Amino acid sequence: MRKRELQLKTLAEKAQGCSRCPLHRGRTHVVYGEGPAAASAMLVGEAPGRAEDEGGRPFIGRTGSFFRKMLASCDLPSEELYITSAVKCRPPGNRDPKKDELTACRSAWLEKQIELIDPPLILVLGKCAAVQMLDWRGSLKELRGGFHSRQGRWLQVTYHPTAAMRFPKIREDFRKDLQRFGRNLAHSQNSNR
Ligand code: URA
Repeated sequence: MRKRELQLKTLAEKAQGCSRCPLHRGRTHVVYGEGPAAASAMLVGEAPGRAEDEGGRPFIGRTGSFFRKMLASCDLPSEELYITSAVKCRPPGNRDPKKDELTACRSAWLEKQIELIDPPLILVLGKCAAVQMLDWRGSLKELRGGFHSRQGRWLQVTYHPTAAMRFPKIREDFRKDLQRFGRNLAHSQNSNR
């Protein structure tokens, strides 16, 4: 096993015992994330739902199956991406993660994941992830569309897949965002060859 893969695995194992925020009390699994340790793109969602909490993997419920199909149709196979969320434990009743939960998870796990995987491109899915990744307090609309620089990486912000699944108008914009992300990923992979 390569060094980076091993470090990521060690971190994921360590995360299983995390009790840094109150969300640990109600969880079945810490949903740390999945994908290649050397992925050239990372996707950051909001928080695990019921299916993810039970299965221990990100985006495997109804939203997840919609999202993975949509990724594949935009030439973004989920197996080639590293997929995780802003918080790794399910909030009760699927409420939004609170500020202290976001902060605790970010410093303990998310920043370390990003550092190890070192992806040049990150797709930020929804408002919570935008707060987590860009300390953003405004509306998602203001961030969508452009690319944002963060510690030497490019971040693209789009809707959360649940919103895209529910609302056809958002779904169309979401598809365009994924296609755009795919083009940028292909470009960054070509220029690194
Ligand atoms: N929504 C997320 O943001 N993450 C998951 O893993 C599932 C649903």
